[in-house]
Amino acid sequence: MVNFRYKQAESVVEADFEAFGELLAKADGFYRNKNGKGNDFLGWRDLTVLPESEEHDRIKKCAARIRENSDVLLVVGIGGSYLGARAVIEYLKTPYHNQLKNGNPEVYFVGNSFAGGELNTVLSLCEGKRVSVNVISKSGTTTESAVAFRILREYMESRYGKEEAASRIIATTDANRGALLSLAKTEGYECFVIPDDVGGRFSVLTAVGLLPAAVAGVDTDALLKGALDERASIFACDLSHPVYKYAAFRNIMLSRGKTNELLVSYDPDFRFMGEWFKQLFGESEGKEKKGLFPSSATYSSDLHSLGQFVQEGSPIMFETIVRPVNGDKNSPVIPFDNENGDGLNFLSGMTMDDINEKAMMGTLLAHRDGGTESVIIDFGGKDEYSLGELIYFFFAACALSGYVLEVNPFDQPGVEAYKKNMFALLGKPGYEAGKEELLAKINAI
Ligand code: PA5
Repeated sequence: MVNFRYKQAESVVEADFEAFGELLAKADGFYRNKNGKGNDFLGWRDLTVLPESEEHDRIKKCAARIRENSDVLLVVGIGGSYLGARAVIEYLKTPYHNQLKNGNPEVYFVGNSFAGGELNTVLSLCEGKRVSVNVISKSGTTTESAVAFRILREYMESRYGKEEAASRIIATTDANRGALLSLAKTEGYECFVIPDDVGGRFSVLTAVGLLPAAVAGVDTDALLKGALDERASIFACDLSHPVYKYAAFRNIMLSRGKTNELLVSYDPDFRFMGEWFKQLFGESEGKEKKGLFPSSATYSSDLHSLGQFVQEGSPIMFETIVRPVNGDKNSPVIPFDNENGDGLNFLSGMTMDDINEKAMMGTLLAHRDGGTESVIIDFGGKDEYSLGELIYFFFAACALSGYVLEVNPFDQPGVEAYKKNMFALLGKPGYEAGKEELLAKINAI
């Protein structure tokens, strides 16, 4: 079970939690009874893909086929259709998984920007390698991924011919609607479904995340089992479960003007989990002029960049430190050196992880002295089961915290604004009306 060590925060006492008791109890009711705002997007609560299900079997079979017939999987998607899969793969298999030559296909993520140079680079990495494509989009119309997929479809068809290309392209999309679904049906791509009641940012434990992860060699049975067990631990407990404490703590901080939550990990492999976390909480809570701004950092590297601000800058943030309880058994040991020219013999015999732990506690105390509160989320460690627990913990915390904030945690109305302007500027049919006005504004800049 994931633990939340809120007692690390000196300035927060039980009475602060009690002040949020009523809102938290209400949020708990919405979560358990599925009757709060956005309740038709709570499919993630009970998991839509169970370990022993037909859908999971089909995902694993498809992954096994890709592992057999491909050296590279290109995953096309953006936002919730991308971040979770990348986060899981990078944390469990390291950001260097593509260079490790350990028998797992390389997995590259494309279609998550309009930067053409990146797509060119990835395509150059595919030269001489057998390629499959997993295009992921719930709406089936997201421009970044649709544009990349159009280019990749042409690439695959010219490389393999239409028929073999179709057998190497897998679409993960809505069950009933969208341009991607129509295209997949016409071309005969194998399809996986993003359930109606699961929003993009809550979809990592559906085919969206499971298929790319399984291709990269992740044990998806253990990942799902961890999530289910975390769910069970919440359902078996009352408001004393760590997930409620964390949800309340975030709101206590916000009520004190700490408008920024910095998710801190001391492991660079966790970096994309931070990216995933930012989308999860940012899209869920940042609305109606409310919400904490979610940010993330990797210490100790970022102590050499952001550390100054956290210690002495505007007092706008608190730190949530994510800490694996089981450290790395293979962490390098610092050797003894007879000369001791670098003066590091006081560290000899310690592992780099031992030093990391001391850096963490030293930093926590220093930042607290500077006025920045820190709390710790303890989870098992770098294995599928523990990551599944942590993912579910964040899902539930996000829903509960959003309900305490009294917003709908499952919509994202604000994401459309940039698209409307971009479509008008690009001349998309149906968006002509605003174009002149936008151009006039641009000229005035
Ligand atoms: O969480 C969300 O809903 C969004 O971030 C989407 O995942 C993102 O915009 C991609 O959308 P789609 O899967 O429809 O291409």
